Amino acid sequence: MHCVKKITSDLVWVGANDRRLAMFEGVYSVPDGVSYNSYLLLDDKTVLFDTVDTAVGRRFFENVAFALDGRQLDYLIIQHMEPDHSATLDELILRYPDVKVVCNAKTLAMIKQFFDFEPDAHIVKENDTLNTGRHNLHFVMAPMVHWPEVMVTYDSTDKILFSADAFGTFGALNGAIFADEVDFNADYMNEARRYYTNIVGKYGTQVQALLGKASALEIEMICPLHGFVWRKNLSDFISKYALWSVYEPEEKGVMIAYASVYGNTENAAEVLSCMLREKGVKTVMFDVSVTPASEIVAAAFKWSHIVFASTTYNAGIFISMDEVISDLVAHNIQNRTVAIIENGSWTATSGGLIREKLEKCKSINILEQSVSIKSALKAAGLSELEAMAEAIAADFPCATTGIANKGDGKTANIDTNAMFKLSYGLFVLTAKDKGKDNGCIINTTIQITSTPLRISIAVSKANFTHDMIVNTCEFNVSILDTSAPFKLFKQFGFQSGRDVDKFAECDYNDRTVNGLRYLHEYSNCVIAAKVVDSYDYGSHTLFIADVTESFVLSNIPSVTYQYYFDNIKPKPQPKIAGQDGEKKKGFVCKICGYIYEGDTLPADFICPICKHGAVDFEPL
Ligand code: FEO
Repeated sequence: MHCVKKITSDLVWVGANDRRLAMFEGVYSVPDGVSYNSYLLLDDKTVLFDTVDTAVGRRFFENVAFALDGRQLDYLIIQHMEPDHSATLDELILRYPDVKVVCNAKTLAMIKQFFDFEPDAHIVKENDTLNTGRHNLHFVMAPMVHWPEVMVTYDSTDKILFSADAFGTFGALNGAIFADEVDFNADYMNEARRYYTNIVGKYGTQVQALLGKASALEIEMICPLHGFVWRKNLSDFISKYALWSVYEPEEKGVMIAYASVYGNTENAAEVLSCMLREKGVKTVMFDVSVTPASEIVAAAFKWSHIVFASTTYNAGIFISMDEVISDLVAHNIQNRTVAIIENGSWTATSGGLIREKLEKCKSINILEQSVSIKSALKAAGLSELEAMAEAIAADFPCATTGIANKGDGKTANIDTNAMFKLSYGLFVLTAKDKGKDNGCIINTTIQITSTPLRISIAVSKANFTHDMIVNTCEFNVSILDTSAPFKLFKQFGFQSGRDVDKFAECDYNDRTVNGLRYLHEYSNCVIAAKVVDSYDYGSHTLFIADVTESFVLSNIPSVTYQYYFDNIKPKPQPKIAGQDGEKKKGFVCKICGYIYEGDTLPADFICPICKHGAVDFEPL
């Protein structure tokens, strides 16, 4: 049975997924499968963009026949001749003998290399166009992304880039077709990086050339030959390509790859990793004998620093480490700081040999602080490791430990009152889950980018609204204005939606397009947003979200945290206990006025009213 996906009103995905393939190109494991994408444009003329691997040929031909619905196939545009996209070319031509192949001269030569026929071909070159009725297709050469004959096609009518191997990812599509239908960052970004680095990582210059050409085009959708179609947040993925293609790391941190026969080299790598963590430096570790080389290559493209730790084997580098380093050199790894640990029970040679290999790469800074171990780590080796860790950590001035004690031996003071000088706004955050509306007060809404229009909010996990957002990934922010009365803060801030209906007193039921409520009084603006990412920071979750709707309600100034304290919040009035007039002992919440009675306030105390912690209390 056919299995197609509609992409636009006249463009259909007719590709297929393969989850049985063990090794893509015979070398890259694909534990989550791979998709072979082919697209059929149903214009006045019908146009197929590439074919598929023979492994999924049967489904592909069912899909093409279904999508054509009895029409003839007019054009086959061949963008890439690698057999995962062209192996079914001969059968396609047998089934659709009148189809005209559209390709460049290099592709035609390759067709004759792979097959024993020469198709009826229309040869195109850079900037040639093909009109198919409503659509105008422009051909853009992209040599070496990934083979020399590769070209991409730009549909200027619908602003779609058919990008061949570029912007692909490993992994089957699992029923989705658009990247925004899945949690791409969490579930597919690692595989997108592994795909890029291993398939086209070597050809950064050529990828840069293609990105340069693409930057002159107005692109609203990208249709690659593997993985998801991109119709939203294209700049997110394009910016990854911009980094990868110039071999710049994505994150500051250390990838430690080690080869160890009896665990002693591994032990040195582990000790180094602990030392680095104690200095606040992020580390990831791979045993090169266990982790596929393609994953280590991808990680090397991600992290800023690399440590290779290898035992000596047959007077050389340990076999699997030798392969990984050769792979990295072949993929043109550049712009990294590298440190080397070697081990050898009689003559340790692996370190020098690793250095020789890496010296062929551009802009690799190999640290002088190397470590040479004889059989197992001893006190002298420990000192060398500490020196290596110090040298690496010197590149991480923002590491999270030790900052408060830097400089003249003075200990820095942290006065939490400084936080109250930040120019926070105040907002009612609303969400809806399982038919229930709820909201809470937050002071942490920030615009983080304009393209795409994206905001962040930090929400206490103690809030019911927090859990609703986790479940639904949608929320509204009503920006409070200076007309907001204290009772509004009590309504949304001093009680829990788990116990009460916070909207019970509202005599209106205004909702944004996403179906969530918002405040049309005491609020000058509403922003609706959909979560695209979230980060767990212990007591709070930081949600990153795309704005899906926004509108202004009035020109009344927004309320600030300071305005709230000066003009809205009643001043806390410590109660007088007993007839002797003695003041009660205790602490008052600076946020909501709740009074905790007692001599000492527990450090982990959370205000039962507004959920702020002990730092926001002061003695009565
Ligand atoms: Fe998916 Fe270079 O082929």
